[in-house]
Amino acid sequence: MAVGAAATLVIALALHFFLVDAEKRHLLQRKEQAARTLAASMKLPFTQILLYEETGLVAESGLLDLYISRMAGNRDMHVSYAMVLDPEGHVLSHSDLTQFHKRLDDPLSRKALAATGMILSSVGDPFEGGVIDVATPLNVSSKRFGTLRLGYSLSGLAEEIRGLKRKVLVLTISAAALMIFFLFVAARVMARPIRRLVNALNSVHLGRLEPMPLPERNDELGDLQDSYRIMVDRLRKEEIERVKTRELLARTEKMATIGTLAAGIAHEINSPLTGAMHSIGALAKESLPPRKRDRYLKVAGESLERIRRAVSQLLDYSTVHATNFSECDLSRLVADTLELLHYQIGRSGIEVENRLPPLAVRGDAHKLEQVLVNIVMNAIAAMPSGGRLEFSHAEDGSSLTLIIADTGEGIPEENHGRIFEPFFTTKGNGKGTGLGLAVCRKIVEQHDGKISVSSRPGEGAKFFITLPRPLLMEGTHGR
Ligand SMILES: Nc1ncnc2c1ncn2[C@@H]1O[C@H](COP(=O)(O)OP(=O)(O)OP(=O)(O)O)[C@@H](O)[C@H]1O
Ligand SMILES: [Mg+2]
Repeated sequence: MAVGAAATLVIALALHFFLVDAEKRHLLQRKEQAARTLAASMKLPFTQILLYEETGLVAESGLLDLYISRMAGNRDMHVSYAMVLDPEGHVLSHSDLTQFHKRLDDPLSRKALAATGMILSSVGDPFEGGVIDVATPLNVSSKRFGTLRLGYSLSGLAEEIRGLKRKVLVLTISAAALMIFFLFVAARVMARPIRRLVNALNSVHLGRLEPMPLPERNDELGDLQDSYRIMVDRLRKEEIERVKTRELLARTEKMATIGTLAAGIAHEINSPLTGAMHSIGALAKESLPPRKRDRYLKVAGESLERIRRAVSQLLDYSTVHATNFSECDLSRLVADTLELLHYQIGRSGIEVENRLPPLAVRGDAHKLEQVLVNIVMNAIAAMPSGGRLEFSHAEDGSSLTLIIADTGEGIPEENHGRIFEPFFTTKGNGKGTGLGLAVCRKIVEQHDGKISVSSRPGEGAKFFITLPRPLLMEGTHGR
């Protein structure tokens, strides 16, 4: 708009100068024409007077002086001076009485005397009060009696030009102002829908995947708006697909984990089941003393309770829960995970150190438990012949980091970035899907958190899970 306005102003100014210049030239031409006409119309009477004097028809009667003084005295004729010279340049008559009987020899007079036709010469600046000097020979065919010279005054021209300049300036400024106003209105009218569309596009960038309502249009901008709607629609569909795929990946990974867990649970169930069966078998015998009866009943009851808990843990883990963000205690989740993996940990002879205080985080308890199960299962796999599994934590203002350290085989540096990629596994023979840590990362990111590893081969591995703390709990430890 600014460029348009500046261009309009420049064009208006250029137009102004061009118009004024053209009009000045035209005015000057008109003045010259008037001077010419005046000289031409006066030529005949002056020639006649000189002719009559020459032939003696009329004696010196002062006619010349009368004509000259009338011309110079008549303001409507615009004559500043007038004179009649004889062929040698002697003044026969002059509006300036002091010039009488002088012989004029200035260049302008010489030029006038030498000219065979009417000539015009400019004296002074025509636009600043100058004069047009018109000279015309007074002759009858080749007989020359003298020369008439008159100064046609241009003093009115300067005033006319000033008036003209004022008019043209007012006109050009009004035209430029009007143009700029139209430009401004047009820019506003055009910019508004563009700005609306830009806002709509920005809202997509900020995660709004619903098309913003925009007024229908039938121009190019309307096509752009249609493209915007199609784009948002496609993005929304893709986002839905992406979430679905992510959920499916997590579920697939969970199913694979459940397979491993089920084997452990089967082992966990086996011994209390044997105990319960044995007790029930003994209770079936009628001749049992009351004390023994009570003891068998207690064993059977405890065994069945252990079986119920193991089965309900597996059931709970394998159930697909809808995502539900709430405040949960991370140390409680660690304890649940250790209980679920009790058999696997015990079987590998791993020592666990868990002295976590209650740690409140905001998240989905089931999803976070899935993360913990994956990391602990990886640690167990990294320590086939025993080791230590340690849980600690670090805090800063708004977030909390859970640190899970093992003393297993460790991870080479070049794999640190890759272990979080889907399907990256070093476990051969189809033992691992390589989805465990990929799912962990997705879940942690869903919580606005971060997961990272620090490890060297042979020196164990440390996993860091940073999660935001619940807003109300800032600066405190859980509850
Ligand atoms: N605590 C750890 N110590 C050593 N290596 C580890 C540890 N945790 C993960 N890794 C390495 O990271 C790889 C990827 O782990 P991830 O959990 O994603 O897949 P996986 O364990 O191989 O398979 P899945 O978890 O699907 O059974 C593992 O194959 C292993 O090489
Ligand atoms: Mg794994």
